[in-house]
Amino acid sequence: MGVEVVERRVARAGHDRGMSLPTATLGRTGATVTKLGYGAMELRSSRLDPGEVDRLLNTVLDAGINMIDTSPDYGSSEEHIGRAISGRRDEYFLASKCGCPVGEGIGEVPPQGIREHIFTRENVRAGVEQSLGRMRTDHLDLVQFHASPSPSTLADHDAVAELLALRDEGKIRFLGISGTLPHLPDQIAMGVFDAFQIPYSAVERDHEDAISTAAEAGAGTIIRGGVARGMPEPRAGMPEQYQQMMRERRERFENTDISDLLGDMTPMEFMLRFTISHPDMHTTIVGTKNPDHLAANIAAASNGPLPADVYEAAKQRFS
Ligand SMILES: NC(=O)c1ccc[n+]([C@@H]2O[C@H](COP(=O)([O-])OP(=O)(O)OC[C@H]3O[C@@H](n4cnc5c(N)ncnc54)[C@H](OP(=O)(O)O)[C@@H]3O)[C@@H](O)[C@H]2O)c1
Repeated sequence: MGVEVVERRVARAGHDRGMSLPTATLGRTGATVTKLGYGAMELRSSRLDPGEVDRLLNTVLDAGINMIDTSPDYGSSEEHIGRAISGRRDEYFLASKCGCPVGEGIGEVPPQGIREHIFTRENVRAGVEQSLGRMRTDHLDLVQFHASPSPSTLADHDAVAELLALRDEGKIRFLGISGTLPHLPDQIAMGVFDAFQIPYSAVERDHEDAISTAAEAGAGTIIRGGVARGMPEPRAGMPEQYQQMMRERRERFENTDISDLLGDMTPMEFMLRFTISHPDMHTTIVGTKNPDHLAANIAAASNGPLPADVYEAAKQRFS
């Protein structure tokens, strides 16, 4: 299906049928964000057709999605955002990362997908400055330490102080961290983060309670992996650790009978609405470079959380 058709479908979903995306307050940032956000990691390739990327990102905004997450680590993603939608900068809450290698990242990321992170004050500042330039903006709404550094790693480099300095200069508005167990409780206890980016889905529930802990501490909660990457087959050449993770998610889904819970929903709609059903999630930054998937995700999220009894039953079965 062409992008124009998808755009019309989105417009129909959003306006003619009176559907709209649910929203939440992103913790102490006070920002109202759509529970369906957009994760721009899929836009990492420099070989993507700029026209198609421009249409996709404008469709994201036209649908009312107002939360966009990216990273210097995602190849050309930040540059695509700058080119495509910097002219609509007041329509979205822009989150990026820091601690990533600076001066690289244009083009492809390494096959293992993650590069060494450096949390020195110099590298944190250089990364933020680079993101501002690439995304053609004078401020980032949220900058998140990437790769879940421990509080002691951050303290060793006085890294938080650099983000606070950048905040005082007006270059960033809020501080965040991409946090995972085992460090997440200690990161929350630091009390300095306005938002946490946390992995969660029906087939990856290790952080379910930590999401609530973060929200109860007053922070915003940003969910990644909310559709379990579409549960694809692992690709040869991927690091074995990634392949194993993907196999486990698929097996968990395939071995859990939810056929009676699906009703009219596709499995992907079910997955997305399961994630949105977490009472303490504020936004889930689902990634896609496929306009059909974007339209499907918008329609699914517009249907809101799962009915309470379906959510409870699903939690039982996926436990
Ligand atoms: N902090 C971190 O360390 C970290 C790590 C990973 C990701 N992230 C952030 O979180 C975002 C999302 O994370 P994620 O990519 O791991 O997880 P995700 O959003 O669960 O999965 C995205 C993947 O699912 C596919 N997909 C999306 N909608 C679909 C649909 N309706 N049907 C079938 N497949 C669909 C996409 O492929 P298509 O393009 O083919 O649709 C894409 O490969 C990223 O974009 C990034 O911003 C952060």
